Amino acid sequence: MTTALITGTTAGIGASFASRLAADGHNLVLVARDEKRLHEQAADLHDRHGVEAEVLRADLSEEDGIAAVEARLADRTHPVDLLVNNAGFGNRGRYLEAPLTDELRMLKLHCEAVLRLTSAACETMRTRGRGGVINVASIAAFFPRGTYGASKAWVVQFTQGAAKDLAGAGVRLMVLCPGFVRTEFHARAGIKPDSVPSWMWLDADRLVATALKDFSRGKSLSIPDPRYKTMTGLAKLVPRSAVSAVSHRVGRNYARR
Ligand SMILES: NC(=O)c1ccc[n+]([C@@H]2O[C@H](COP(=O)([O-])OP(=O)(O)OC[C@H]3O[C@@H](n4cnc5c(N)ncnc54)[C@H](OP(=O)(O)O)[C@@H]3O)[C@@H](O)[C@H]2O)c1
Repeated sequence: MTTALITGTTAGIGASFASRLAADGHNLVLVARDEKRLHEQAADLHDRHGVEAEVLRADLSEEDGIAAVEARLADRTHPVDLLVNNAGFGNRGRYLEAPLTDELRMLKLHCEAVLRLTSAACETMRTRGRGGVINVASIAAFFPRGTYGASKAWVVQFTQGAAKDLAGAGVRLMVLCPGFVRTEFHARAGIKPDSVPSWMWLDADRLVATALKDFSRGKSLSIPDPRYKTMTGLAKLVPRSAVSAVSHRVGRNYARR
């Protein structure tokens, strides 16, 4: 039996990864901050699918949290075969509206934690000659959208570069770029749901099913919906100023604090 470690499992896309991978017979290491929710999820996955689900409470925007998950990934006696770096959030407000401390917390979670956990996992996987990493970025990586889009652009560039560097070592890396997905993300970021047109919403379970199919096919970039594939293709052809005129508005209508 193989083991998958997923960050941000208690809600949204991470919860869909956990359900799907458990249904496929993988043991799991579940990482998030809410310990009660993690234990309930672990018990539920064990009952429904008969897999072992280990709980690892960690805040990945803090040094201690990152170090604890790094240590678990480096444990060669209980190796992790698949790492899904999924935990993430959006700040409420545009540039200079969100406090700088929140922007730095985002960079720590989206960039530093992803770099350190990917590196801890890949070191062990390279020694074993097998393993995989899926890093969850966003379609926002391809559009000018503040610190959030910039941090996700880093995830895309980093993952695709590392995938090339490790080609031939038995370790596969893929970056997943979802469009708007119905999860807790928008409520947590104070984004009004009506600021996203209804046709743009995706379903998390379907997104994850397509992402895992792309991963098994050896893709290094997964954009799991034709609408969003078309949008990213068009964004390369249209002048940057026209793209940002639209992209900086969609899904950025914030509720009052
Ligand atoms: N939903 C979208 O439209 C969308 C689109 C593109 C990309 N994404 C990306 O997809 C990923 C998952 O987002 P989602 O939509 O599923 O969000 P979500 O429903 O809000 O879930 C976020 C998960 O991450 C965990 N988390 C948040 N901050 C954390 C931290 N500091 N340390 C550890 N765990 C943390 C949360 O649990 P705790 O609160 O218990 O820690 C939760 O389990 C993110 O990277 C996001 O940027 C989402």
